[in-house]
Amino acid sequence: MSTITLISGSTMGSAEYVAEHMAEILEDAGFSTEILHGPSLDKLPQEGIWLVVTSTHGAGELPENIQPLAEEISEQKPDLSKVTYGAVGLGSSEYDTFCGAIRSLDQLLMENGAKRLGDRLEIDIQQHEIPEDPAEEWVKTWSISL
Ligand SMILES: Cc1cc2nc3c(=O)[nH]c(=O)nc-3n(C[C@H](O)[C@H](O)[C@H](O)COP(=O)(O)O)c2cc1C
Repeated sequence: MSTITLISGSTMGSAEYVAEHMAEILEDAGFSTEILHGPSLDKLPQEGIWLVVTSTHGAGELPENIQPLAEEISEQKPDLSKVTYGAVGLGSSEYDTFCGAIRSLDQLLMENGAKRLGDRLEIDIQQHEIPEDPAEEWVKTWSISL
C-alpha cells in the first residue's frame, strides 16, 4: 500500500498530535506513514500522497515551523502535479481569520499543480475539545478513496 507523508504546522503541539493520531489510524488501515513537522521542501517527496495538518496563528498566519515551507513553494514554484494531498486545519472560530493557514496552504498547493483529495477539514477547537475525534472520522473516510 502507499506511503502517506504527513506534514504538520504547529505552535503549541495540537496539530502535531492530530497528525500523529491520524498516522496511527492510517497505519492500522495498512498504509505506511512518515510524519514531518515543519519540513523544508527538499525533505518532501515531490510525488505521492501528502496529508497537510496545520493550525493557524497570528491573524490567519501559518505557524512559524511551516512558514519556511510555504515560502519555498511560493518562491521555487515546484511542479507538484504528481502530488495528491489531504488538507486538515485546526483553528478557533473566535478569530475571523478562522483556519486561515490551511486555506492559504491549500491554495498554494493547488497553484503549484497538486490535487486535493476530498474536502478540506477545518476543526474548530471551540466545538471540539478533542480535535483528534473529528480528525479520526475524517481520515477514515478520506483514506478509503486512496
Ligand atoms: C495567539 C493566537 C492566535 C491565533 N490565531 C488564530 C487565527 O487567526 N485563526 C484561527 O482559526 N485560530 C487561531 N488561533 C487558534 C489556534 O489555531 C488553536 O488554538 C490551535 O488549536 C493551536 O494549535 P497548535 O498547538 O498546533 O498551534 C490562535 C491561537 C493563538 C494562541
